[in-house]
Amino acid sequence: MRFDDQGFLAQAYSTDEQLAVRIETHRRYGVNPKDLFEAITEQALSRSRPARILDVGAGNGSWYRALRRVLGPEPQYVGLDQSAGMVERLQEEIAGDARAAARTGDAQALPWTEPQFDWVGMHFMLYHVPDIRRAIGEAWRVLSPGGLLLAATTSPTPYSELLDVLVEGLREMGYAAQAIAYPAERFSLAQGGAFFPAPVEKFVFPAGFRFDAVEPAFRYLASGPLDVAIAQAGAPPAVRGDLVRYVGERVAVEIAQRGSFLASAQSGFFLLAKPAV
Ligand SMILES: C[S@@+](CC[C@H](N)C(=O)[O-])C[C@H]1O[C@@H](n2cnc3c(N)ncnc32)[C@H](O)[C@@H]1O
Repeated sequence: MRFDDQGFLAQAYSTDEQLAVRIETHRRYGVNPKDLFEAITEQALSRSRPARILDVGAGNGSWYRALRRVLGPEPQYVGLDQSAGMVERLQEEIAGDARAAARTGDAQALPWTEPQFDWVGMHFMLYHVPDIRRAIGEAWRVLSPGGLLLAATTSPTPYSELLDVLVEGLREMGYAAQAIAYPAERFSLAQGGAFFPAPVEKFVFPAGFRFDAVEPAFRYLASGPLDVAIAQAGAPPAVRGDLVRYVGERVAVEIAQRGSFLASAQSGFFLLAKPAV
């Protein structure tokens, strides 16, 4: 499975349905009550106060909401995403905000000629971009001198305890399931720093899930990982029902024995400043 495959991305992000489930899972079952997008904004604000912000791969506006909560209505915000469905959803989110705009575009070819943004964010999206260095180069190009580049991602194999159960289930059913592939393996907190054109600072936070019931663990798996695991194992989609039952039993046993099922992860971000001239 390639997480920069354009067919996969068109299906995964044609609407914000799957992304919204993952955001809600973080809000309700995340082990860290602090919102990562607020942490990014507060850290950046301790360095500079922005007039103009670009959010590359903006999705349905998680960073936009945090920016407005922390900074108020003043800074201009532009959200760019390659998915028309995601941009439509973002346009609903920013409706009535005269200082915010949403547009379609590719991170690898940004539609501005001059440096003009004080902050550029690329959150949980670089692992989906075919040419990661080119996308970072584009963000660097449109960043004003003295501006900040901010890029959030996760540890390489987030929630592996939960995803390992999927692989075990597929093996029990007779499929030659390998260890699951994770999007963040292309751009993670562990190796992402090497892609940048200048020294980076890295900020890391706990970001796992603690499930006290089976159903939210299912909803999370159904927002993407379940179908990825089935496709990777070369199993037919019809195994979904049996696999869901297998995972449900395993998660339920752990909740009964320990009170909860912990799926561990870290999330965080890279920060780097473009030299002022
Ligand atoms: C996991 S979502 C993250 C959304 C948002 N940044 C967040 O953190 O909630 C990844 C987003 O990146 C977008 N994306 C993927 N490749 C892109 C590219 N080459 N250019 C622009 N957007 C892209 C997808 O359409 C999707 O909305």
